[in-house]
Amino acid sequence: MKDREERTAFGEASGNLSSVRNKLMVMSGKGGVGKSTVAVNIACTMADEGFKTGILDIDIHGPNVSKMLGQNKRPVLVEEQIFPAEIMQNLKSISIADFTDVDSPIIWRGPLKANAIKQLVNETVWGTLDFLIIDAPPGTGDEPLTVAQSITGLRSIMVTTPQEISKADVSRALNFLKKLGVGPVGIIENMSYMKCPECGKTIELFHGAAGEDLSARFELPLLARLPFDPKISTLADKGKTISSHMRGSEHERLYRELVSAIQKELVLQ
Ligand SMILES: Nc1ncnc2c1ncn2[C@@H]1O[C@H](COP(=O)(O)OP(=O)(O)O)[C@@H](O)[C@H]1O
Ligand SMILES: [Mg+2]
Repeated sequence: MKDREERTAFGEASGNLSSVRNKLMVMSGKGGVGKSTVAVNIACTMADEGFKTGILDIDIHGPNVSKMLGQNKRPVLVEEQIFPAEIMQNLKSISIADFTDVDSPIIWRGPLKANAIKQLVNETVWGTLDFLIIDAPPGTGDEPLTVAQSITGLRSIMVTTPQEISKADVSRALNFLKKLGVGPVGIIENMSYMKCPECGKTIELFHGAAGEDLSARFELPLLARLPFDPKISTLADKGKTISSHMRGSEHERLYRELVSAIQKELVLQ
């Protein structure tokens, strides 16, 4: 693992995000498409490539990031400032779940959610970061709205499966972001296909080509088509990531290519 000297793309923000160069919200109109999986594995790959990276989980109702990272460290609170947990070299993480008691769930109403997210955004001390990856819940609710309104220079990455129904949901999310002035970096199609473990033949799991269709319709780059592999969900359940536990695999290669595609787009756009 290396520590990067050179810096990537740009970005201005206020408060504790002033030293965070790229703020990227991973979004989709739809649940279960792999947003958290993609967010976690992008962040870990970036960190492994030597980029100073943070991951912020704002999915109040389904916070999965800490579990997927196998995280047992907690953020530290010092005089109204929140210091994220250091997960590995170049990777810090914080989740809304760090501040809630799983056994006594809070009934989150709109303003309460918005305040909790604003507090995480404004009071977390990230230090200098190349990338802050924000894992959002599905849809266009209070959480992505609050993030979009509180982070200057925010960009989004859209995750879809190939399905037609996912296309409709992602289109809605893209239009929602457009209204808020958040520019999308591109689209990732997840669970695009599967390689037969017996013969290596490509199996299309879903009918449709939502990634390509959305890319053409919104004139956005299709950053990656990622295969379905049961190993990925097994690893995620065990808190293990692709960059550290699937070294040398096709998935590792695809994630490294994805990270470089994101970087390239941020410089170009
Ligand atoms: N490419 C993939 N291959 C296999 N399983 C995947 C893949 N991407 C996501 N999953 C699994 O699909 C489920 C939903 O993924 P998750 O990242 O939680 O979606 P979301 O955050 O969009 O709700 C999880 O069980 C996850 O492990
Ligand atoms: Mg999720």
